[in-house]
Amino acid sequence: MTSVLVLHGPNLNLLGAREPAVYGALSLREVDRLIQAHARRRGVRVECRQSNAEGQLIEWLQRAEAAGFAGVVFNPGAFTHYSVALRDAVAAIRVPVVEVHLSNVHGREEFRRHSMIAGVARGQISGFGPRSYLLGLDALLDGGVGGAAAPGAPARRARDRRAPRARGRRRRAR
Ligand code: DQA
Repeated sequence: MTSVLVLHGPNLNLLGAREPAVYGALSLREVDRLIQAHARRRGVRVECRQSNAEGQLIEWLQRAEAAGFAGVVFNPGAFTHYSVALRDAVAAIRVPVVEVHLSNVHGREEFRRHSMIAGVARGQISGFGPRSYLLGLDALLDGGVGGAAAPGAPARRARDRRAPRARGRRRRAR
């Protein structure tokens, strides 16, 4: 069964209590329940994790492939807007990452309009409340997680695992 990792960044543990007019009334646990229900509908396994620490999020991203995840739905919270380290982690890994936000970051303060992550993610979904996560999961699955690249997505070339002298040679069609 396909497994997807959902990562919530800083302050998202406070959902429900934190600025409910912006982020809604649901707690993180309730949001995770919606995500799990959607995952069941889609026939995939999802694991949801939250951290306030940039380093922890980087570790989880780096280990995602080895841990068997086919893709990541990632809400980097405020790190979105300034973390070069998280951008580098997303760029470094081979599993596709979809960036999601509860609020519409493009309709808020100027500093939220810029995402360090968007350019290296498969895409960004912003402004649909908890549904952003469900849409993010759909985007990964319908974009062919573990299979074909999403339409319009920059194709990431698979790492060439052949011996150095064989690299550059055309592969025989199978
Ligand atoms: C957020 C938007 C960010 O700008 C903010 O710092 C967050 C939450 C969102 O989900 O709308 O913490 O990522």
